[in-house]
Amino acid sequence: MDKIQSIKGTHDILPYESEKWKDLEDIIYKTCDLFGFKEIRTPIFEKTNLFLRGIGEVTDIVSKEMYSWQDRDGSNLTLRPELTASVVRSYIQHNLKNQSSSQRLFYMGPLFRRERPQKGRQRQFHQFGVEAFGSENPEQDVEIISIAWHLLSLLGISNKVQLKINSIGSNECRKNYRKALLDFIKPNFNLLSEVSKVRFEKNPLRILDTKNPKEITILSDAPKISDYYTNEDKTHFQTILKFLGCLNIPYNIDLGLVRGLDYYTRTVFEFTSNSLGAQDALLGGGRYDNLVQDLGGKVVPGIGFAAGIERLLLILEAEKYNFKKHTPDIYFICIEQNAIQVMLSLSKKLREKNYIVVFDLLRRSLKAQMREANRFKVRYVLIIGQEELAHKKVTIKDLQKKVQYSYNQSDLFDFFNFKINS
Ligand code: HAM
Repeated sequence: MDKIQSIKGTHDILPYESEKWKDLEDIIYKTCDLFGFKEIRTPIFEKTNLFLRGIGEVTDIVSKEMYSWQDRDGSNLTLRPELTASVVRSYIQHNLKNQSSSQRLFYMGPLFRRERPQKGRQRQFHQFGVEAFGSENPEQDVEIISIAWHLLSLLGISNKVQLKINSIGSNECRKNYRKALLDFIKPNFNLLSEVSKVRFEKNPLRILDTKNPKEITILSDAPKISDYYTNEDKTHFQTILKFLGCLNIPYNIDLGLVRGLDYYTRTVFEFTSNSLGAQDALLGGGRYDNLVQDLGGKVVPGIGFAAGIERLLLILEAEKYNFKKHTPDIYFICIEQNAIQVMLSLSKKLREKNYIVVFDLLRRSLKAQMREANRFKVRYVLIIGQEELAHKKVTIKDLQKKVQYSYNQSDLFDFFNFKINS
């Protein structure tokens, strides 16, 4: 019979890898705790409209990459392609604004985008992200960037990433800039790619995101958004840069950075890494001061970022990050069927004291079980054979010190409390 394979662009996370995920997740939880961020978990699927209104209809994500379907009752549903819109929906739905005027939230989980799979780009991938609501002050922007920096520093990879930052200005700034950009591009409209022609009509700022060399040349003399900042935009951006300086967080201003989602206002940023290859964006985010209102809530400013977990792991692998080893403490070998009960009850007691105990379930030979104990890299092997069973003893092999002891089964605990804690 044919074997059923996983879907292209999706991956199994096998036991050896899931230990690394767990390590990384622990560090993420610790970082979020340090900044007072609380976890939010939202459903994997939502009404399609949420993403149309939240992310923007002409973005790549919404126009090409969503997994959407019509449900049996006729409603249009979508597997979430990102989490900011979902978090904002939940924030509005549960009146989180009433609980506290500033909300700090984080999340981790799977997302779905129908992109062409390649290294660091999957159709089901995972993000860790943070979203903060309530403050439009620059210290809020810097707090968000600091979380990313703190995490990357804890992981020892802050020197392997580059922070690119830009301000795409307030609504007023973008309105004026949009007009200037359209006037500039209009004479060259026919030279634009089909994608940029659509963007010209719907969201001309996104044309700045082009990777097309011909368009990059056309745009080299385009007006700069920084010339259209209001005084408040300028002060906001300058203050962020000053605060980043105080925290010794290195950055590069990138006036071409606009990001691929339509909800951003003012600050946008990305951490990229050369270790990632073509898909070099590790983490991206920005401010979205209109989104809560656009999705039916009050006027509440917000800002956040999301990092790809798979991409974080790619960098950690490339940098030979020292993941925690999850080895068992004890491998229990029973070579006498009548002793299985003793092994089960001693193992239970050891586990009650938090020792990780594994044993063979295939009733294999002593040699085969020793081979497995070595493969697991355990420190202690306990053996009960005929001799031990007859005298209520256990043989203890310390594989690290290469010594062997014989202990009464009733004294086994003393041995471990004494030995492992020493
Ligand atoms: P994004 O830039 O679309 O932003 O995604 C953030 C990160 O998710 C990327 O930098 C990348 O590491 C990872 N990522 C995206 N697509 C894929 C993929 N197909 N395969 C693997 N990893 C991927 C957002 O999603 C915004 N919601 C971020 C945000 C939060 N802005 C404000 N708050």
